[in-house]
Amino acid sequence: MEKIKIDYTKCFDYYNGGDFAKAHANCQTQTKVLHDQSGKGNEFLGWVDLPASITETEIDDINAVANNFKAKVDYVVLIGIGGSYLGSRAVIEGLSNSFVNFRKNADTPKILYAGHNISEDYLSELTSFLKGQKFGIVVISKSGTTTEPAIAFRLLKELLAKQVSATELKDLIVAITDKTKGALKTTATQEGYKTFIIPDNVGGRFSVLTPVGLLPIAIAGFDISQLIKGAVAMQKETAADVPFENNLAAQYAVIRNVLYQNGKTTEIMVNYQPKLHYVAEWWKQLYGESEGKENKGIFPASVDFTTDLHSMGQYIQDGTRNLFETVLSIESPEKNLVVPRDEKDLDKLNYIAGKRIDEVNKMAELGTMLAHLDGGVPNIKISIPKLNEYYLGQLIYFFEKACGLSGYMLDVNPFDQPGVEDYKRNMFALLGKPGFEKETAAINERIK
Ligand code: PA5
Repeated sequence: MEKIKIDYTKCFDYYNGGDFAKAHANCQTQTKVLHDQSGKGNEFLGWVDLPASITETEIDDINAVANNFKAKVDYVVLIGIGGSYLGSRAVIEGLSNSFVNFRKNADTPKILYAGHNISEDYLSELTSFLKGQKFGIVVISKSGTTTEPAIAFRLLKELLAKQVSATELKDLIVAITDKTKGALKTTATQEGYKTFIIPDNVGGRFSVLTPVGLLPIAIAGFDISQLIKGAVAMQKETAADVPFENNLAAQYAVIRNVLYQNGKTTEIMVNYQPKLHYVAEWWKQLYGESEGKENKGIFPASVDFTTDLHSMGQYIQDGTRNLFETVLSIESPEKNLVVPRDEKDLDKLNYIAGKRIDEVNKMAELGTMLAHLDGGVPNIKISIPKLNEYYLGQLIYFFEKACGLSGYMLDVNPFDQPGVEDYKRNMFALLGKPGFEKETAAINERIK
């Protein structure tokens, strides 16, 4: 089988041999630290060997629950935020037909999302839409106490309870959470919902290959065995003993760190396929939450090209020169469509008549990479043979592995997120949550 490839030749002019040698040596040290489990946050390294440890029984259990939803409902609402939502959405949107939710007579439920915002309008429109519809709920929260999904779950559970019997309700709600702690675990146990466990040693943003990602992806009709197979292949390709020349994760970690050391403090993830939008959203959380701490870290941004060439293109070409790009390039599209010939040629497009749309897209991609390089923006290209389960599995594991290495190279703990708690503390204080009385008094004083 083919695998994804990395090309960083368009970065060569942006660092010297000494910088590279230092980063390379650091990466070798951190590879050992990661695999020996002797580094910071080593209680959260369960994802490293996860793909190869997933059993057929686990896959069968997930597929059975997915099939139950497929047989019984038209919609499944995935409730979750951050690592409990972005991975599955990345894969589902990456693999789905762009107009999937306009299908009639679909054989898989349409997937809707909730719990990733606290918008009254969004939640109100969602509950109104689902009134009278056949729907199920998959609620995901590792801590089981996150406010956004908790609010969405309360609303949707109340609606579903009005529409189905108590027995059906139990059958149409699945919770994915910690094995013992958290309000969601308590609710699921007391109300008798089917539950999947998020392993203790796998953090939210590294959990896409656990039931957190696998169940929603299976419900949407995709082959989770192939996704895992791709991840297993990449687990092997990036193992501790794979030399740097063949180790994609080590190469990506080294190059982005060398660029960072040379003033390239923002990395822009670029795609030329709108279906990859949520892959970039998932990647931003993975890298932003893992590396952005102790006043360090590359700022992860993303753009959808060619759309954003007509908005952000100017800045990237000409603005502050602290940028580098990582381009996700799909080598072969699934479909085949050519630019039609037009006798009158009033739009002057006949010079590309007969060419595949993808050929035009690829020339936009190459032309942009060269132009941005000329403008002082080096780029890394990650080529993915096809947009399917197998290669997305490879890509997910590749980014996870490189993220662990890259975070260690930066000397931070890539597996915690202390900064995420700060907004929650203020929000709880402002809302008067029991237990936050001191914070409530302090914040009220501050804003009066
Ligand atoms: O990566 C992380 O750990 C976080 O971003 C979480 O995924 C996010 O905050 C959601 O948390 P939970 O699954 O506990 O609801």
